[in-house]
Amino acid sequence: MKYFIVTYGCQMNVHESEKIAGILEGMGYECGQSREDADIIVFNTCAIREGAEDRVFGNVGNLKKQKKQNPNLIIVVCGCMTQKEQTASYLLKTFPFVDIVIGTFNLPNLAYYINAVKSGRQKDIWQEGDIDETQPYSRSSGDNAWVNIMQGCNNFCTYCIVPYVRGREKSRKEESILNEIKALIAEGNYKKFTLLGQNVNSYGNDLSDGVNFAKLLRDICRLDGDFTVSFMTSHPKDLSDELIDTIATEPKVEKYIHLPAQSGDNRILKLMNRKYTHEKYEEIIDKIRAKIPNCRITSDFIVGFPTETEEEFMRTMELVEKVRYDSIFAFMYSPREGTVASQMEGQIDEKVKHERVNKLLALSKKIQKEDNKS
Ligand code: SAH
Ligand code: SF4
Ligand code: F3S
Repeated sequence: MKYFIVTYGCQMNVHESEKIAGILEGMGYECGQSREDADIIVFNTCAIREGAEDRVFGNVGNLKKQKKQNPNLIIVVCGCMTQKEQTASYLLKTFPFVDIVIGTFNLPNLAYYINAVKSGRQKDIWQEGDIDETQPYSRSSGDNAWVNIMQGCNNFCTYCIVPYVRGREKSRKEESILNEIKALIAEGNYKKFTLLGQNVNSYGNDLSDGVNFAKLLRDICRLDGDFTVSFMTSHPKDLSDELIDTIATEPKVEKYIHLPAQSGDNRILKLMNRKYTHEKYEEIIDKIRAKIPNCRITSDFIVGFPTETEEEFMRTMELVEKVRYDSIFAFMYSPREGTVASQMEGQIDEKVKHERVNKLLALSKKIQKEDNKS
């Protein structure tokens, strides 16, 4: 019996697919090479932008024929997209040949759902469960091991669906993170650990033992072994001096920070609920550059947020010009149902979004070329 997993979205999802693989291997499935030879196909979806969702609809739709030829094929759609009840019911209605539709909250019950389908029982959706820490991951990212340190997000940036589909911030206990990394070091296959969270800088805020992200990083560095540590993602509002110092002074911590700015304009930042100004953001960048020379810095930007004027967009261009990032991701704003920004007046024309995203990417490319030369 073979499984095949198709993953969309961020590193959190990539890592969660390793958890899904672990669950399936625990049930006796082996990793297959393609969709065609699989007995179970899992789509681990992303809801961050409309484009990501459209690709899932297309790919799931394409399986109709395969399911007809092989009625025993089990098709699962899970992840952020199907955590939204409306999307989940739409999927079930439009693609009745899909067997299991579950969200991120009930992923821990995946084995239960598969067994239910196999035994012909009625599938019930929307049960919540806690990730079982004893369930092994089946890792597939070479000598890098992803290590999840927290779930969810409390920030509610007005454009973003993540807090709705991933729930509130929930930090894992430091001890269990350290134990996981110790065990991975002992395996001897990993040279790098990448700590994952939507906003790693607020790690520990919900724990009562006084641990914060900087301390977690230091404690990981104290573990014996030849490895480096990296992390993503940092929210600028929570990036502390203590963390900058820790990155600067701990040789095992990679000198790299992904620090999404989203916009260079204060009015737009406020509408986005990002809780910093571009001045504050630039101050943090200056601090990083002063304390960690040669630190690689990358960022995310959204263009065409509702009501963004050409002048306001130019502030974003100015910020990119000033910071001279090692690279950036630039996204056209995509309205997500249920978020505050999707209800705002002054939605921007797609054509304008295209122009802005191309301008921003061209600028960043030009800067990288110059810097690579020097
Ligand atoms: N937690 C991370 C990023 C999560 S999503 C952070 O806060 O930085 C990754 C990126 O997708 C975001 O940084 C943002 O630039 C982009 N994004 C999120 N929602 C979006 C939307 N509705 N439209 C376009 N881009 C979006
Ligand atoms: Fe989304 Fe903002 Fe949370 Fe990042 S910090 S996941 S952009 S709400
Ligand atoms: Fe997408 Fe969910 Fe990640 S919406 S970006 S897969 S947290």
